Amino acid sequence: MARIVLVSNRVAVPGGDSGNRAGGLEVALRAFLKRHRGIWLGWSGRVARGEPEIHSVTHGGINIVTTDLTRPDYNDFYLGFSNRVLWPVLHYRLDLMEFSNREFEGYLRVNERFADVLHPMLTPDDIIWVHDYHLMYLGKALRERGHKNRIGFFLHVPFPPPDVLTGLPKHERLISALCHYDLIGLQTQGHADNLSRYLTGECRMSSRDGRTFMAGGRMVRLGVFPVGVETEEFNRLAERAAQSPFVREVMASIADRALIIGVDRLDYTKGISLRVQAFERFLAQNPAWHRAVTYLQITPRSRSEIREYAEMARVIGETVGRVNGTYGEAAWTPIRYVNRTYNRSALAGLFRRSRAALVTPLRDGMNLVAKEYIAAQNPEDPGVLILSRFAGAALELNAALLVNPYDVEAVGEAIARALTMPFEERRARHQELYKTLLKNDIKTWGDRFYEALKNPDQALRAA
Ligand code: F6P
Repeated sequence: MARIVLVSNRVAVPGGDSGNRAGGLEVALRAFLKRHRGIWLGWSGRVARGEPEIHSVTHGGINIVTTDLTRPDYNDFYLGFSNRVLWPVLHYRLDLMEFSNREFEGYLRVNERFADVLHPMLTPDDIIWVHDYHLMYLGKALRERGHKNRIGFFLHVPFPPPDVLTGLPKHERLISALCHYDLIGLQTQGHADNLSRYLTGECRMSSRDGRTFMAGGRMVRLGVFPVGVETEEFNRLAERAAQSPFVREVMASIADRALIIGVDRLDYTKGISLRVQAFERFLAQNPAWHRAVTYLQITPRSRSEIREYAEMARVIGETVGRVNGTYGEAAWTPIRYVNRTYNRSALAGLFRRSRAALVTPLRDGMNLVAKEYIAAQNPEDPGVLILSRFAGAALELNAALLVNPYDVEAVGEAIARALTMPFEERRARHQELYKTLLKNDIKTWGDRFYEALKNPDQALRAA
């Protein structure tokens, strides 16, 4: 059996802190690797004082190899081009992009370094699967080192339309490098269409079906693979965790109030500030709910060294303070805003006990919180998901209450509707959503991509 080689910037190292802070990507890959053997290469999370070291541990049949970054690499590659340029551009926020040639060179340098680390480990039969926007250039760097393996790339975040992407300096060099992959996976048809239009319009590549392109004598295919969650496992975890001492303590502390939950990394793409304003609007319009509802927003800090993130933390803190100051009473705090990480089990339990979840990103590749919230529910008394139409998940989860996160009044109304939704409607919506999650769970996602990457002749099944 061919060996799988996963490469991503973040890696879930056993015993590390990633169990608490793991983003969607690490959760998805960890689930995939439960059923495969191979290597997982990524960043150690450390910034080396001297020479960057390479670490290797074997866990459950997986060899986890991580490399440190030097201080200039961390600044230029991670904080710089990846998160101050690519992250905003891919989320349609050209206005937040801060491009510099030095950082772009740093990005290429770290992609080359990953290729150097991987190079001696690879055998010709290995199937290589590269993840996310940090490593767009890695396929090209591996080809330049002579590797003819099947190499796939999956983008966890959105791929914007060419009109937005062409605002990125050096986009030609970066995006054309994607053509060194055999298969490029995207979360939605819309993202795949955007890349397809870029390749035909900007790279002058032709394609009969908009999904298969020829580049330098090689075939590159685009496919749609919406990431799922471990639906049934998560449901079982939530059922157990809902009775844990931690969840009992939280529920006791809010007395018999209805709980609304939001869980997001502190990131401007998540729309947290507008969401708090929507809750404020809901309180203004619905005095009967005063003292009867608690909105818990769990928001671990992230990328705090980037100016926009620090500024956003300040704005959200002030908005929450204003709402609590205006509506709160001695015995009731409307919003609990927590900058902490909680493990999967704690979140699963809280999801199950929440009457509604607010998942209202301004732009999101998929959003696994939305899927985990549905997976966690008690089918006999399910909560209601309020979901942004701009999350990739909205395409599959259209039985949720879909909202435009920029329309603060409409989100406020959706909160009222969720809290008063009749049982029959809640159950019908939940049944439909849960069925969708069973059909496309994390196993299906990983297997579909892996099979499509291994078998170039196999037609790509619809997502
Ligand atoms: O796909 C989004 C992503 O960048 C993942 O790669 C990562 O798991 C998550 O966001 C967390 O971001 P960071 O690695 O910058 O902490």
